[in-house]
Amino acid sequence: MAKEKVLVTSALPYANGNIHLGHLSGAYLPADIYVRYKRLKGDDVIYICGSDEHGVPITITADKEKVHPKVIIDRYHELNKKAFEKFGMSFDIYSRTSLPIHHKTAQEFFKCYYDNGLLIEKKSMQFYDEKVKMFLPDRYVEGTCPRCGYEEARSDECEKCGSLYEPSELKNPKSKISGETPVLKETSHWYFPLGKFQERLQKYIDEMNKRYGWKENVLQYCKGWFTDGLRDRAVTRDLDWGIKVPLNNAEGKVLYVWFEAVLGYISATKDLSEKRNDPDLWRRYWQDPNTKYIAFIGKDNVVFHTIIFPAMLMAWNDYNEDKYILPQNVPANEFLNFEGRKFSKSRGWGIDVIDFLEIFPPDPLRYTLAANLPENKDTDFYWKEFQSRNNGELADILGNFINRTFAFAFKHFEGKVPKIGTLEDIDKDMIELLDSYPEKVGNLLERFRIKDAVFEMMNLARAANKYFNDSEPWITIKQNKEKCATTINICLNTVYTLAEIFEPVIPFTSEKIFKMLNAKECNWSECGKLKLKEEHQLNPPEILFTKIEDKVIEEQINKLGVVEEQTQQDEEISIEEFKRVKLKVAKIINAERVNKSDKLLKLQIQLDNEVRQVVAGIAKSYEPHELLGKNVLIVANLKPAKIFGLESKGMILALDSDEEGKVKIIEVDNSIKPGTLAK
Ligand code: 2FM
Ligand code: ZN
Repeated sequence: MAKEKVLVTSALPYANGNIHLGHLSGAYLPADIYVRYKRLKGDDVIYICGSDEHGVPITITADKEKVHPKVIIDRYHELNKKAFEKFGMSFDIYSRTSLPIHHKTAQEFFKCYYDNGLLIEKKSMQFYDEKVKMFLPDRYVEGTCPRCGYEEARSDECEKCGSLYEPSELKNPKSKISGETPVLKETSHWYFPLGKFQERLQKYIDEMNKRYGWKENVLQYCKGWFTDGLRDRAVTRDLDWGIKVPLNNAEGKVLYVWFEAVLGYISATKDLSEKRNDPDLWRRYWQDPNTKYIAFIGKDNVVFHTIIFPAMLMAWNDYNEDKYILPQNVPANEFLNFEGRKFSKSRGWGIDVIDFLEIFPPDPLRYTLAANLPENKDTDFYWKEFQSRNNGELADILGNFINRTFAFAFKHFEGKVPKIGTLEDIDKDMIELLDSYPEKVGNLLERFRIKDAVFEMMNLARAANKYFNDSEPWITIKQNKEKCATTINICLNTVYTLAEIFEPVIPFTSEKIFKMLNAKECNWSECGKLKLKEEHQLNPPEILFTKIEDKVIEEQINKLGVVEEQTQQDEEISIEEFKRVKLKVAKIINAERVNKSDKLLKLQIQLDNEVRQVVAGIAKSYEPHELLGKNVLIVANLKPAKIFGLESKGMILALDSDEEGKVKIIEVDNSIKPGTLAK
């Protein structure tokens, strides 16, 4: 088959915080698996990523820490780059949008639109914080979404329903800097006329979908925006931090971060060209109509990659000879949650990649995340699932097959590949199965059905174990050595195929297996064939997977919800925010320990007319019987969660005590009726 030229990008993460597991599942791991597979196929691939280093989230963090934004981006760029490396991300480049090459590229695009009269200058009313004397862009303002009523919507965009609107439409706006109600004040900005591109965009998405099959979730998002009708979109902001608007009369204005961040893919490729001393490299991908461009993102980024970025590229192409390609597919994923809830640093819910990889190796994490990608709906990471995927699948199925094959080869065949002899049906079936696998897995990966592909990979390991069992080499070694040799030859070749086929998912392990096999990975077209020559010398086996004990997992579960001191302090909230928390009196009517946890108690509590279950981390402080009949204070409207697999609806309030790990519940006089609201 002809080689494909493939350009792959993953969303540029904000250099504003650590990468957590949710990020990996959204836009990074699936892309890396796809890229590694395409490389094995021999396709001509480049894989681009980098830090998104402008925008308001970064200035907010810098304000909080009272440092310059540069300090923040330098810190998180390095941390995230390292975390990705340790996780095995195989980017060709991990660039940064603060580089001059990016500023220049973004300004060129803006100038091109401006010089050709495409941009519209409009005066508008923007939120202005009179206390701190500055215009408040996007995320500095929070209020109620005019479309769906979500109460933490941003000034011009709702995270919940995905709507984009004018700041003046936001209800109950509040400045995130001062907490004051901001005023609307006139300012002037340049707008990109998205509406002019609606028809072409619809046609483009339609055609791409017909030819390459876009994901249903992505098409649904697009349909929503088209139905609403695309409107002019401001591409500048009143802000210090960012890329200066390249015009004389634009003091204090920068390019809107989303306008320039998407161009970051192009400038990162230019950065790669410079680093590789190959000045035309970026053009060979971005400006060749034969390039297949795949943009991996999470669902919150869909509009920017299927509508705004393509419109920007179309606009450039209208005015220039050097024309850019558009994404051929945007396989956006939904979100990964953590043990039943959204990741939240401030609530101590979730784990950063860097911290995870301090404790566990990368491959079990890659495998667990890949086997449970949020491809069509949100999914969850559960510590228990991680343990069982590692112990029950990687170690017991894949690792076990490889171990027993190698142990046999070393014990009975001097660590050499034995001769293949007369084939029986069972052998022929196994050989046929091996041969069919690359295509089976490849077809799924080509269509971004990564979760299914991973399932098939493990199925091959399952089939391999069955083949080993059914062939009974421990018997044939005594009764029919030639037959035994055939079995072990086929098993070793199966190990080879498994190492190749699993490489995109667990590359560190595959590398170890190749070393054990004393062989190199081959092109995908060779995968599944019997490639090991008779008498080929193997290397002694290594440990591939270590089982994870219950107590290691419990330690992690016990850390959940524990908030670090510094994130707990200082933040002021408004009375409205406080009022959203419903504190109620509840009576504890039953309490018992949670199996295998030294920290958790399972409680039944009574409110007005309702009995609920709450799982509380107070087992180190109270014996279950001590709690019976007590009236306590609970957060009654906390979103239900699963803790240790148990439903928990609410949270018991408790006070820290001096003794480590001990708390004291807030008791309420027994004369108060359960269900009473605290104010
Ligand atoms: O959501 C985010 O983290 C954004 N920084 C993604 C940007 S993707 C592209 F535009 F660079
Ligand atoms: Zn909304």
